Amino acid sequence: MASTSSANGAVAAQTGPTLPPNASRLPQTAQLDALLTIIRDASTPRSDFIFYSDRIIRLLVEEGLNHLPTVPQTVMTPTGFSYSGVSFQGRICGVSILRAGEAMEAGLRECCRSVRIGKILIQRDEETAKPKLFYAKLPEDIAERWVLLLDPMLATGGSAIKAIEVLIENGVKAEQILFLNLIASPEGLANMYSKFPQVKVISAWVDERLDEKSYIIPGLGDYGDRYYSG
Ligand code: PRP
Ligand code: URA
Repeated sequence: MASTSSANGAVAAQTGPTLPPNASRLPQTAQLDALLTIIRDASTPRSDFIFYSDRIIRLLVEEGLNHLPTVPQTVMTPTGFSYSGVSFQGRICGVSILRAGEAMEAGLRECCRSVRIGKILIQRDEETAKPKLFYAKLPEDIAERWVLLLDPMLATGGSAIKAIEVLIENGVKAEQILFLNLIASPEGLANMYSKFPQVKVISAWVDERLDEKSYIIPGLGDYGDRYYSG
């Protein structure tokens, strides 16, 4: 969807589709649109694709952390005065949906030093677009953590739904899950929310639709291929 920016960087025309209640987008600024335009461009070389994707991932992680609950905390400053602030309530972990989700791990580690990260290997069948689960390795105490689920693309929603099922089988409640992605389709969001309305989703951008091969349109092609093999 085309967009125009105002002087303060807000994007005016990207009104986008109506989102399910627990889904949100990053602030639709001209800067974000410019970063996405670079990674959408089929002629962008792999090194730039990685650099500008990583910038968007960092914005997504920072926004994701804004959604975690905090509790009051008072500290003494070096001036001898106290400051009434907050600290995060509870621990977090990341879970990446391999292969492409692994690209988001570094951005999470930049914000949350020594964060535990689990991995779920799910691959879409190239013909049917149905997800197949191959492997999952999760932190043992994942049920007691907030989970930042990482995958750059939400297309049909099949992979995300399968990953959430694995998390729930391991004791995680749907309301403990925050799913971060770069580009979502309206169909994928609707599918996911028909099964898991309590999961929070933050997308950098929500695109128009899926094509007949279940690729996101306009999208950016196959994220994993572009990030890992150019
Ligand atoms: C891509 C992407 C998501 C999935 C999205 O992965 O990273 O995991 O497709 O599609 P869906 O919403 O229709 O399930 P893919 O299976 O192509 O594997 P990759 O990570 O190895 O690229
Ligand atoms: N996976 C991708 O990488 N891109 C799409 O458009 C759909 C699924």
